[in-house]
Amino acid sequence: MSSLPTTTTTAFPENFLWGAATAAYQIEGNPTADGKGPSIWDMMSRKEGAIVGGATGDIACDHYRRMKADVALMKSIGLQAYRFSIAWARIFPDGTGRVNQAGLNFYRSLVDELLAAGIEPFATLYHWDLPLALHHRGGWMNRDVASWFADYATTVGVALGDRVKWWMTLNEPSVFVISGYCDGNHAPGLKLSVTESLRCMHHALLAHGTGTQALRAACPGPINIGMAPAGYAKIPDTETPENIEAARRSLFTVTGESLWDVALWLDPVYLGRYPAEAPAVFGSKWHHPCDADLATIHQPLNFIGFNCYSGVRVRAGASTVASEGARATSLGGGGAAVGVAPEDLRYPHEHPTGQLSWLMLAPDALYWKCRFYNERYGHGQLPMVVTENGFCSGDWVALDGCVHDGTRIDFLHRYLRGLRRAAAEGIPTGGYFYWSLFDNFEWAEGYKPRFGIVHVDYPTQTRTPKDSALWYREVIQSHGASL
Ligand code: GCO
Repeated sequence: MSSLPTTTTTAFPENFLWGAATAAYQIEGNPTADGKGPSIWDMMSRKEGAIVGGATGDIACDHYRRMKADVALMKSIGLQAYRFSIAWARIFPDGTGRVNQAGLNFYRSLVDELLAAGIEPFATLYHWDLPLALHHRGGWMNRDVASWFADYATTVGVALGDRVKWWMTLNEPSVFVISGYCDGNHAPGLKLSVTESLRCMHHALLAHGTGTQALRAACPGPINIGMAPAGYAKIPDTETPENIEAARRSLFTVTGESLWDVALWLDPVYLGRYPAEAPAVFGSKWHHPCDADLATIHQPLNFIGFNCYSGVRVRAGASTVASEGARATSLGGGGAAVGVAPEDLRYPHEHPTGQLSWLMLAPDALYWKCRFYNERYGHGQLPMVVTENGFCSGDWVALDGCVHDGTRIDFLHRYLRGLRRAAAEGIPTGGYFYWSLFDNFEWAEGYKPRFGIVHVDYPTQTRTPKDSALWYREVIQSHGASL
């Protein structure tokens, strides 16, 4: 390993936090311990053929029982912040009503342990593990989910709000709605129509709003609230004004072809309205939300969080489009080259990927997400927090006892340079969370994809920090100057 630079200059703000992220179902195991109720992932992982290799989260990283040692490990890596999620069904085994104090106590001790180790806790309220009891009442299809979620947020806020200052309401709502309710490959495994899925989307966004209100009311002092949405970055193929404008348009345009377009999810949250073109492109499937709902969804937030893995390159098409007016009305940012028709470019088949083919190497992704989100939603006022970014490779413990994950180091290095560029250009940045601290249960893909900077040998539960963890420790110690 290279030694630490003696003189350090860094583009990152002084209060920028370096962290790593996990999620409850992916690491905790112990699904029935201390009165926990079942979640939709407990159900999904028992469904024949749903998960590669028939894997479940029953044991995962057994973090529920190894939490103290795991926090000590985080400290040894030098993490300044840790993003975890709370399992709703540990707190409310039946989804609503009776509170399970033992479940709350687990997160109380986790937070105490983190603070004692000098690690800032970042809590996510919902990382996909809806209590099964609520699924039986319609789950995200039922508008009542917004008040169930608010009650849950209140309880957690009262228990932890004096010590947890950073909160995220939902992790990747587009993924849990589309994969869970539309495509059916994630829990609860439904294949609903676009009309019904749009309704789930609206309920999720509403829950974000009610959850934010509830947290603010429950926590005794000032807190920071954001979200952790998904979405591919759109990267100009070359940095000409036309290609930059094309990438911006491609990022924020709603096509109606799917529910993946980020503006569908983020415009209501940050701008208080759905994209202007949504009713036209979705036609009779659109749900025409009322103003009161949009006001609930549009809560003031403290940071712009986003998960960022991959990207699509975009260039300005050969022809410009005269009838872009309708689209242009909802587009933010620069907008110099009016009429640019974006053309998304596929990476060639041989382009480098992680173990999962959607994870294409796109190092400029962090920079362009920061830039476009800042233009449209942040306006220089809200810091960007990368709530997830990471790489999966088939790592193993080598004969020398180490895990040599050079590819992950290079991935991280390149992506972090993109983030550094954003910071150097004056875009406010607040933190970075590597996904994930541990190798863990990668949902329908089971345990084969390894995202961790810490290797987990599942049969023995042995943790081995990979070379990337040692490399990341240097980055943290130099506050990004070693990049
Ligand atoms: C997500 C989730 C994580 C995943 C990670 C790798 O982004 O899908 O937040 O739970 O494990 O992203 O796919």
